[in-house]
Amino acid sequence: MEYLLDTANKQLIKDILNYYPIDGITTNPTIMTKEPGAYLDILSDLDTLLDGRQFHIQLTSITFPDMVEEAKRLNDIIQSELYLKIPVSHEGIKAIYKLSKQGFKVTATAVTNLNQGIMAAKAGASYLAFYVNRTASTGINGNDVINEIISIFKRDGYQTKIIGASYKSIYQINKSILNGCKSVTVPPTLFKELMETTVTKESIEQFTNNFKDRFKQIGPSIYKE
Ligand code: E4P
Repeated sequence: MEYLLDTANKQLIKDILNYYPIDGITTNPTIMTKEPGAYLDILSDLDTLLDGRQFHIQLTSITFPDMVEEAKRLNDIIQSELYLKIPVSHEGIKAIYKLSKQGFKVTATAVTNLNQGIMAAKAGASYLAFYVNRTASTGINGNDVINEIISIFKRDGYQTKIIGASYKSIYQINKSILNGCKSVTVPPTLFKELMETTVTKESIEQFTNNFKDRFKQIGPSIYKE
């Protein structure tokens, strides 16, 4: 199972990486606009922070030739495990196909239906990012579509991995994982919710307080003569 952070915020990434074995991050153009500084400086700082982890960077280009050019530029500057995140538009599918053939690792993104998913796999994408909540807002259960994509991939032998994306609730994330997603990208606020429950917090507090009441201290000092 892989957990990615759907953010470009340095401080939030640093805080979470300090505690959790996170596999990398995903960006998109909107996410990048939320950070201060020049675009290339933001990318470079994130690259250093990721230290070889997965870095799924969405291309900013719209046309196929621009996508190819941008992919090459990114490939020259990024040291982490780069995945070119390319939307499944007409131009995007063409770029996914050509760039995958040339050996670039690609994450097809903005996938919201079964056939886009199949086409991304046929084009050679390593991953596809399926937008669960954005699909839900059109009245279709995104997690059901993930289920369908996984069953077709199994039937036809596609190796493309699915990243569950665009989440607004813990329930959506859990459903994706249970439906067979081996990778999810989660905004930092939701990630914290995934890892903390009141019962866990209260249980730890209770154990500590009980121990302290009886032995008057906790931690390494107990072991001193
Ligand atoms: C993932 O690849 C996308 O960056 C992201 O999950 C989109 O999420 P949103 O629907 O919250 O914008």
